Amino acid sequence: MRLSLLLLVVVAAALIISWAGAASPPAGGKQPLTPDFYKQTCPRAERIIAEVIQSKQMENPTTAAGVLRVFFHDCFVGGCDASVLIASNQFAKSEHDAEINLSLPGDAFDAVVRAKLALEMECPGVVSCADILSLASGVLVTLTGGPRYPVPLGRRDSLSSSPAAADAELPHSNFTVDRLIQMFGAKGFSVQELVALSGAHTLGFSHCKEFADRIFNYRDKKDGKPEPFDPTMNPSFARGLQGACKDYLKDPTIAAFNDIMTPGKFDNMYFINLERGLGLLDTDEELWTDPRTKPLVQLYASNSTKFFDDFGRAMEKLSLLGVKTGAEGEIRRRCDTYNHGPNMPTN
Ligand code: HEM
Repeated sequence: MRLSLLLLVVVAAALIISWAGAASPPAGGKQPLTPDFYKQTCPRAERIIAEVIQSKQMENPTTAAGVLRVFFHDCFVGGCDASVLIASNQFAKSEHDAEINLSLPGDAFDAVVRAKLALEMECPGVVSCADILSLASGVLVTLTGGPRYPVPLGRRDSLSSSPAAADAELPHSNFTVDRLIQMFGAKGFSVQELVALSGAHTLGFSHCKEFADRIFNYRDKKDGKPEPFDPTMNPSFARGLQGACKDYLKDPTIAAFNDIMTPGKFDNMYFINLERGLGLLDTDEELWTDPRTKPLVQLYASNSTKFFDDFGRAMEKLSLLGVKTGAEGEIRRRCDTYNHGPNMPTN
């Protein structure tokens, strides 16, 4: 009797262990993400992703910023499920084609595609595109000088992708701090996490149209009086941007670095810039003006270790937002298409 009970316990334990290591958990089963999710099924997954992403970044140093933004846009809209990677076609548009996502750079998508190709050679149908995007973001933050943070794994890829939600669920460059706090709060992020995550703007660039209102035909926010540019801006910086962006209506590809001092380096210079009126977007500079966020900007400007710690923790939290497990998703064979075929209208 005792022996059969023992056997039962051993069999049950073995079953649990084999479920935990499998790429496909039982249908509908919620399974927590773990750092060693692919230990049995694709042990070299992380190394392969790191190698591919590193070579892409060396080939094109704008990759880091692009991937980081794609990751944020994916997670904030329906969870970190690679829905932003699905390509549009003649039948249906995907999340990728929402107005706010049109400026997501092709190199970021290419980085994920390359990693997926390498993984499919090594262990086909095992590693999700959502996990690749999460891991790639972590690798690139570290590679550009930022913190190393844990990336739990086991996300599955979405079974749908539509442009409807993205413009409503992502922050725009003309938002007030109130609206930013509200939007991030609704997704479970504190004011401190909002400010820490905004530090991602230490990398990459913004197109002129995103900050044109600050440098051309500017009107004072309170009394509507015309000014040469937003007076919260450093005057030389504002004049420099006016020159750089003067033809932006003819050439919408003109852009400026988010962090004018150390654009390719992940550091706390973004916050130091805000103190000096060198923030590029209105939403950036507002973090310095608003009494709820200003002390946090000061904290991160003066303490880079604190910024790195908080950014790493907030990124890990972001990477867990609305993740899909079990039958909620699939492991796509190609990141831009569902396994059952191309994107189709949902109704
Ligand atoms: C707080 C609210 C935020 C607003 C209003 C905002 C807005 C923007 C805008 C308008 C751009 C320029 C896009 C372009 O012209 O191509 C941009 C770029 C960027 N954003 Fe944000 N963003 C926010 C938060 C975040 C967060 C939380 C992250 C990541 C954790 C992030 C990462 C980036 C990166 C890396 C770039 C540069 C992209 C590139 O160079 O390709 N942003 N953001």
